[in-house]
Amino acid sequence: MKRDFLRVFDLTQNEVSGILIRASELKSGVDKMKCPLIGKSIGLLFEKPSTRTRVSFDTGIYQMGGHPVYMTPQELQLGRGETIEDTARTLSRYLDAIVIRTSSHEKLIRFSEASTIPVINGLSDLHHPCQALADLLTIMEKKGKLKGLKIAYIGDGNNVANSLIEAAALTEMNITIACPEGYEPDGEVLERAREISSSEIVIVRDPKEAAGMAHVIYTDVWVSMGQEKQAEEKKRHFKGYQINSSLLQCARPDAIVMHCLPAHRGEEITDEVIDGTQSVVFDQAENRLHVQKALLEFLLQKKD
Ligand code: CP
Ligand code: NVA
Repeated sequence: MKRDFLRVFDLTQNEVSGILIRASELKSGVDKMKCPLIGKSIGLLFEKPSTRTRVSFDTGIYQMGGHPVYMTPQELQLGRGETIEDTARTLSRYLDAIVIRTSSHEKLIRFSEASTIPVINGLSDLHHPCQALADLLTIMEKKGKLKGLKIAYIGDGNNVANSLIEAAALTEMNITIACPEGYEPDGEVLERAREISSSEIVIVRDPKEAAGMAHVIYTDVWVSMGQEKQAEEKKRHFKGYQINSSLLQCARPDAIVMHCLPAHRGEEITDEVIDGTQSVVFDQAENRLHVQKALLEFLLQKKD
């Protein structure tokens, strides 16, 4: 049976631990000469722009001996009306796995149901699970553990927040989300996360309350890709939700600052904070490469 990775909850707690351990091993350089993807082609179907996801998958696949095939819908018959299902059935005959970045999680599910190869979510409107795996590895590296830590996520209850909640739930971290009314994370994600874990998952309005005693302060853009029309309205609503020095002072003195990037400097985070000593954003970005290599190894070994 093929395994997909459309959301963090597609993996068990043990599988997440295994992927993090393997990612650290790969990062350390052991198995550098092993090429588990020799002879395999991995599709990268991107409906939206990307720097980190695209380049880290492309490079990681190359490092593992595989062949990355980058595609956009405009360059495929998909852009001329071929159905998602027919595209999925066809690409399954050529590729060994596919990474998809799309505006609609529904489309990802349709693709996955019609395909016979593992489908990896490279960001949808609802989830960004590869980002969350990299976030876990980064927190583990910086704090030496995950269980019992407190994450304060300040900002929009978006795809990144949803995946972070699922990641926290699976690793027994507590997470407090500070967001304006109407911008809460997805209801089904919250419900399932609370059902399966003993982590504290709390929504508050006051960023300072969220930041209090936090080990990790995390944010993402206020205006996600595809939300450009709502930009002015969202910026108004999120005005008090910036991570700046004064907010950072509410967290633990050794708190780390995280951002999935790209950042809109001066909006959700100040230059001073993102460039400051507590910021780990580029380690976080690097870790996309290592966790995704471990993920590919895991998903493809399952298929064989
Ligand atoms: N964090 C992240 O997914 O970045 P990109 O949009 O550059 O891929
Ligand atoms: N929430 C952002 C994340 C980008 C990596 C977006 O969807 O645009």
